[in-house]
Amino acid sequence: MAMLPLFFLFPLFFSFHPIQSLFATSLPVTVSVTDFGATGDGVRYDTGPIQVAINSCPEGRRCHVTFPAPGRYLTATVFLKSGVVLNVEAGATVLGGARQEDYPEDPARWYVVVAENATEVGIGGGGVVDGQAHKFVVREDPRKNIMVSWNKTGTCLGDECRPRLIGFLGCNSVTVSNVTLNQPAYWCLHLVRSNNISIHDVSIYGDFNIPNNDGIDIEDSNNTVITRCHIDTGDDAICPKSSTGPVYNLTATNCWIRTKSSAIKLGSASWFDFNHFLFDNITIVDSHRGLGFQIRDGGNASDIVFSNINISTRYYDPSWWGGAEPIYVTTCPRDSTSKEGSISNILFINITANSENGVFLSGSKRGILRNLRFINVDLTYKRITNYSGGLFDYRPGCQELVKHKTAGMMMEHIEGFEVKNVKMTWSNDHVNQWNNPLEFRASTVNNISFLNFHLGLYTSSK
Ligand SMILES: *[C@@H]1O[C@H](CO)[C@@H](O)[C@H](O)[C@H]1NC(C)=O
Ligand SMILES: *[C@@H]1O[C@H](CO)[C@@H](O)[C@H](O)[C@H]1NC(C)=O
Ligand SMILES: *[C@@H]1O[C@H](CO)[C@@H](O)[C@H](O)[C@H]1NC(C)=O
Ligand SMILES: *[C@@H]1O[C@H](CO)[C@@H](O)[C@H](O)[C@H]1NC(C)=O
Ligand SMILES: *[C@@H]1O[C@H](CO)[C@@H](O)[C@H](O)[C@H]1NC(C)=O
Ligand SMILES: *[C@@H]1O[C@H](CO)[C@@H](O)[C@H](O)[C@H]1NC(C)=O
Ligand SMILES: *[C@@H]1O[C@H](CO)[C@@H](O)[C@H](O)[C@H]1NC(C)=O
Ligand SMILES: *[C@@H]1O[C@H](CO)[C@@H](O)[C@H](O)[C@H]1NC(C)=O
Ligand SMILES: *[C@@H]1O[C@H](CO)[C@@H](O)[C@H](O)[C@H]1NC(C)=O
Ligand SMILES: *[C@@H]1O[C@H](CO)[C@@H](O)[C@H](O)[C@H]1NC(C)=O
Ligand SMILES: *[C@@H]1O[C@H](CO)[C@@H](O)[C@H](O)[C@H]1NC(C)=O
Ligand SMILES: *[C@@H]1O[C@H](CO)[C@@H](O)[C@H](O)[C@H]1NC(C)=O
Repeated sequence: MAMLPLFFLFPLFFSFHPIQSLFATSLPVTVSVTDFGATGDGVRYDTGPIQVAINSCPEGRRCHVTFPAPGRYLTATVFLKSGVVLNVEAGATVLGGARQEDYPEDPARWYVVVAENATEVGIGGGGVVDGQAHKFVVREDPRKNIMVSWNKTGTCLGDECRPRLIGFLGCNSVTVSNVTLNQPAYWCLHLVRSNNISIHDVSIYGDFNIPNNDGIDIEDSNNTVITRCHIDTGDDAICPKSSTGPVYNLTATNCWIRTKSSAIKLGSASWFDFNHFLFDNITIVDSHRGLGFQIRDGGNASDIVFSNINISTRYYDPSWWGGAEPIYVTTCPRDSTSKEGSISNILFINITANSENGVFLSGSKRGILRNLRFINVDLTYKRITNYSGGLFDYRPGCQELVKHKTAGMMMEHIEGFEVKNVKMTWSNDHVNQWNNPLEFRASTVNNISFLNFHLGLYTSSK
């Protein structure tokens, strides 16, 4: 066997260039929003005092803007500036307004808290930022709630016209730590065109019935470290996207995730590359899909490691994204005008999965999966819900949904696949649904090796 490249053997530590921080030389200034008249009564808007407190921070200094506990600080959009870190104390909540007039004109800036083109910015302090998602529900629906739409200008789509919770746009040196993010009305924590991002000790609680409650979206941004996160939400939990630029150097470690969509998903916005990612020591429970690639727009994903991950996936209502696949690696052109991106040098090592559906590995004619490795992977298949299954899911776009008997591992358009120390077990309760452990599209699959691959039924005790 060829040696694994070093990259695959050691955890990644990003070595940022030792640029002198603009702000390192002096101690931070601290101001409190209550000193500027914020009431924290959860009823009156504290927008003015909060913004004046931030604006009072001296230029060129680090500045902690404190939200004292106890208090519920209702506010329209809060705009951060360079050097400012919101210090929301444990027992304090920043409460996002639920009226459209609480947000800027441009839907791209609809956030409860937003920083734009700023450096050394962040949020922390042990408290809560809450988006009041329930106020955006038009009608509760046991399958998926119906949400409001603020589509007045026509610049956003349907019910996706809702504010996100927190955004860093074009920022450098961002820290979000030790904070709980509750009930986002739409996406929760959004990093866009930013660099040098640290997200740690963050808990995210979205609503399991509200669509588009993504956890952390890393878009067109480089050098992100996420650690010790706890995410329990309806939509994709950790979701790198490339819309206007690539995503380089992302690590997520020591996280716990539950979602009604994908726990980790690259894409589907995938116009540029995804490169040099590590996902390590992650627990994924009760999710609709585990580890996913949805490459659809011509970007290339490469050098990505998933290690020490336990996954449990199940079916949910089909109006949600996901099909109970523990591992889902797909690239195909979204539509007839799309380019085809490749997925290469991907390692899955020390993975345990319990799931209702099989592994789906699907490249396309010019978007090949290249050099894929599964090492020490333990897959157990068992039906636990009544949802029908029996579909290959190529969405969004491509061939959409294709009826097919469930396969333990479906493989097409792959060049180089090494399977080593892999165990695949399935329950005999539904043996007719699992008669297809390995499915090859033979003419599209080349250079595959199976070493120490064990396959078998287990008998359920019932
Ligand atoms: C990614 O990280 C490596 C160090 O691991 C560094 O050399 C490289 O410059 C980083 N890439 C970007 C785009 O910052
Ligand atoms: C941030 O920078 C971008 C790109 O230079 C620019 O288009 C945008 O207007 C800037 N935003 C603000 C608030 O300065
Ligand atoms: C989080 O913030 C609380 C309150 O300020 C503090 O007591 C605690 O030490 C912080 N925890 C971490 C991990 O920083
Ligand atoms: C959004 O609003 C525009 C302009 O009012 C309208 O033309 C368009 O159909 C709306 N789109 C959706 C998806 O609601
Ligand atoms: C990265 O961000 C941290 C704060 O989040 C800052 O202290 C450090 O100087 C930044 N590094 C670079 C290279 O910008
Ligand atoms: C990320 O790194 C790539 C490659 O160096 C660069 O093209 C891109 O502009 C960087 N993005 C940001 C937001 O700095
Ligand atoms: C893995 O992550 C969990 C938190 O989810 C943490 O308690 C544990 O210490 C981590 N294990 C290692 C080996 O870092
Ligand atoms: C996964 O499960 C195994 C066996 O139960 C356990 O040893 C390991 O620590 C778990 N890893 C994670 C990331 O939870
Ligand atoms: C992806 O790789 C292909 C083949 O090397 C290349 O032609 C294409 O430009 C790459 N895509 C992007 C977005 O860089
Ligand atoms: C995989 O698990 C083995 C045995 O538990 C451990 O020795 C090895 O370091 C792990 N590999 C990685 C990349 O974490
Ligand atoms: C499956 O369907 C049956 C009959 O409709 C129902 O009684 C049972 O509770 C369902 N089981 C699950 C796990 O949803
Ligand atoms: C076969 O695939 C392995 C990775 O699985 C790769 O290292 C090797 O170079 C490939 N061999 C050929 C002849 O392409």
